[in-house]
Amino acid sequence: MGEKTFYITTPIYYVNDLPHIGHAFTTVLADITARYKRLLGYDVFFLTGTDEHGQKAERAARQRGITPQELADRVVENYYRLWERLGIQYSRFIRTTEPIHRRAVQRFFQRLVERGDIYKGVYEGWYCPGCEAFVPEGSVTDGRHADCGREVERLQEESYFFRLSRYQGPLLEYYRAHPEFIRPESRYNEVVRFVEAGLKDLSVSRRTVRWGIPVPDDPDHVIYVWLDALTNYISALGWADGDPLYERYWPADVHLVGKDILRFHCVYWPAFLMSAGLPLPRQVFGHGWWLRAQSKMSKSLGNIISPEELLEFSSPDMVRYYLAREAPLDADSDFSYEGYQTRVNADLAHDYGNLVHRLTTMLDRFCEGRVPDYSRLDGEMVAVRTDLETWVGRLEAWVDRLAYPDLLREAWVHVQRLNGLIARREPWRLMRDPATRPEARTLLGFLTEALRLITVGVWPVIPFGAGTFLERLHQPVPPDRRHLTWGILSPGTPVALGPELYPRIELPPEIRSEGIPSPVSIPSSTEGLAMIDIQTFMQVDLRVGEIVAAEPIEKSRKLLKLTVDLGTERRQVVAGIAPYYRPEELRGRKVVVVANLEPAVLMGTESQGMILAADVDGRPYLLEVPAEVPNGSRVR
Ligand code: ME8
Ligand code: MG
Repeated sequence: MGEKTFYITTPIYYVNDLPHIGHAFTTVLADITARYKRLLGYDVFFLTGTDEHGQKAERAARQRGITPQELADRVVENYYRLWERLGIQYSRFIRTTEPIHRRAVQRFFQRLVERGDIYKGVYEGWYCPGCEAFVPEGSVTDGRHADCGREVERLQEESYFFRLSRYQGPLLEYYRAHPEFIRPESRYNEVVRFVEAGLKDLSVSRRTVRWGIPVPDDPDHVIYVWLDALTNYISALGWADGDPLYERYWPADVHLVGKDILRFHCVYWPAFLMSAGLPLPRQVFGHGWWLRAQSKMSKSLGNIISPEELLEFSSPDMVRYYLAREAPLDADSDFSYEGYQTRVNADLAHDYGNLVHRLTTMLDRFCEGRVPDYSRLDGEMVAVRTDLETWVGRLEAWVDRLAYPDLLREAWVHVQRLNGLIARREPWRLMRDPATRPEARTLLGFLTEALRLITVGVWPVIPFGAGTFLERLHQPVPPDRRHLTWGILSPGTPVALGPELYPRIELPPEIRSEGIPSPVSIPSSTEGLAMIDIQTFMQVDLRVGEIVAAEPIEKSRKLLKLTVDLGTERRQVVAGIAPYYRPEELRGRKVVVVANLEPAVLMGTESQGMILAADVDGRPYLLEVPAEVPNGSRVR
């Protein structure tokens, strides 16, 4: 087969901890990417696994009174189970205790020795068992590691060293020649600055740790756990055994990792590979962290969100969708249960799920449960079709940047347009009159094909529900590249009915009690509002303003603090839109502001106005103002 290959990896996770949302995030993003690439016709290899050696695992096992192997065997089951439930379709799950990996690590180490890059010395300094990292003097305060806050230990032991210092020049040269090697860009600069500051040789063995892979010909030493772990990316392809998988897939297209382990992947790993004379991965993508109340989630802080817990009251697609839709890759994101509930109810239950339900019900009632002919589209339908095809054409570019928030935001614009078409044209009304019946049938056929195309395009993100809908349309699952074109559904295709794809979720009471009620309430209907005259209306000073700054408000999940330029002055406005809009996407946006509203204080922050938004089931949609309208223009 002459297909293009695509090799993507996640970190291999430590077995001293149960998986949490952070691990699920990386793995879900990798799975989504792997599925998109398969959909687009690539021959994909997707690797994940567990990092089972090292001091951390050794200690965690001792505390539980079991062997490290027993600990690994138990914890790995949790990863298998969670990935299965979340629909993670990896090609291979590597465990570093497998013999194939052990052989590879020893052979890799031997290569570095042959290159003259390994020598024996004495390591004297700090070690952070939490990070499994040797820590320089400057990063230790009060006996703690500055990066993670955990306790460090003083070591003085004989050790093998890798001549990392030799690779400062070659690494910097490589970064310059391959700016796409480290993504996003902010991470690139971080790594370059680190390497420019100078590289010391790296201790790559431990004598006081037993749980690991012995140094070839010197079994008193165990190979440093990071050298062991990083090698998984080639050991899993059978590099040490001459497996053709290695030839086929190496170098990796992307190592997806969290920013916490960027240095290991962008500095140590490429230096080891250069020394071993092997090709370097094409890209390391270091995403941001999921936080809880502004701190990184970690077991030691006790602020972990468990994916299993979310799955108790929601569904795998919901977890996948939320993680992909909400997290900007170049910044951290704060997890909130309310944000989760609002997002998945609005987008999956309301917008997408209801559309599937309404459409299949109408096909059943009006079209004998079959797809009607949709060859004679009117102008509005052609416009929607063209926009949809444009969206499909942009999918791969988004995937290559892992820009899933953008990809999905635009997908849902289309979903909402289809909903809007139904609401406005009312096919059930058109069906009543024989003169408009053909229009209704064309419309329903058009909507079905449009929703099918969107569904194929978001299938990698929500494979369970999307797969079910495609099956109801008697379409193959998984879809392939051919299904990413307009006109696949033949008229006459039977369409099956079925239960709701995404029932709305409720937060369990013990979680709900943690939430804070929204201080901003928007009336959701016009019921009970009295008629007013024009003079009364004119008392409302509505102005066009431009959002020039937007930032979260501490301890608030709902509120953003906006600075709005009203032409002659700037106002601070607090808006309850944090679950729906990211600060970055608001900057530069023009909005309509109620300029003469009495100031109010929300969560300790003064708000000097209000921004107009349409309210759809509690979800705000900011009104759009054309870019050419000057700030301060009156609206009436
Ligand atoms: O570092 N937000 O394993 P690990 C986002 N074994 N992502 C998070 C996260 C959070 N709060 N917490 C964890 C190790 N992650 C080594 C890796 S690779 C050769 C060896 C994700 O179990 C993120 O991908 O500590 C992060 O890099 C990884 O889990 C760390 O997992
Ligand atoms: Mg970690």
